[in-house]
Amino acid sequence: MSLKIIRSPEELKTTLRQLKRLSPEKTIGFVPTMGALHEGHKTLLESARAENDICILSIFVNPTQFNDKEDLKKYPKTWDADLALADHVGVDIAFAPEYSEMYPDNYRYQLNEKEFSQQLCGKDRPGHFDGVLSVVMKLFNLIQPTKAYFGEKDFQQLCLIEGMIQAFFMDVQIVRVPTLRESSGLAMSSRNVRLTPEEKTLAPQLHKSMLLAKSSEEAQKQLQQLGFHVDYVVDIEGRRYAAAKLGNVRLIDNVKI
Ligand code: PAF
Repeated sequence: MSLKIIRSPEELKTTLRQLKRLSPEKTIGFVPTMGALHEGHKTLLESARAENDICILSIFVNPTQFNDKEDLKKYPKTWDADLALADHVGVDIAFAPEYSEMYPDNYRYQLNEKEFSQQLCGKDRPGHFDGVLSVVMKLFNLIQPTKAYFGEKDFQQLCLIEGMIQAFFMDVQIVRVPTLRESSGLAMSSRNVRLTPEEKTLAPQLHKSMLLAKSSEEAQKQLQQLGFHVDYVVDIEGRRYAAAKLGNVRLIDNVKI
């Protein structure tokens, strides 16, 4: 099957119904993204391709998860390169809807989690995880994937999505994929393209300090001294989480401790 681009939820449902009618036992591997695909996404897509009969990618810059409208405006868009990568990996369907199609209710209905989503990134970005969970629930309802692939870089997001699957008895297997890093240690992210050359040189220190510092307080101090604007460095249940800004680019990472 060659890459098919689908824009509307109705067309997606019709296409999947047809595929399922032809072969009901076929498995679906799904990778949700906001586009600007990089090597990290490629790894997710390669796993989804290798482990399933049908491989679906979504590209949707989801406005409801951006509390900062400037960040939304600046989010990189690389549509042609994204499709070329999808085609190269052997993705069957790229689903790229418009806001009005994904939110016919204009976000009147939302999904909330009331504990972990309020911590770490949720503290600095009110409503962020409500937007993430709401859109992921919509995508799962439309696609009904057998397996969905998420990077461990967004570990808080991953845990919240796993929690949602349990809470709502959803029939999707979540596959955790380890963070892909540049040789410098910097976690791959769509936002990295917005770093200046000087910031790009400094950025790997985030990972280094998180790994080497004896405590989260020490890591925070080191990063501040290096010129990062630190949102948080926090240790929770054997994992160290951090978010810090370089210029106007917000980097996040997490490591096992
Ligand atoms: O991780 C992301 O890119 C987004 O949060 C996701 C899961 C695609 C939802 O918009």
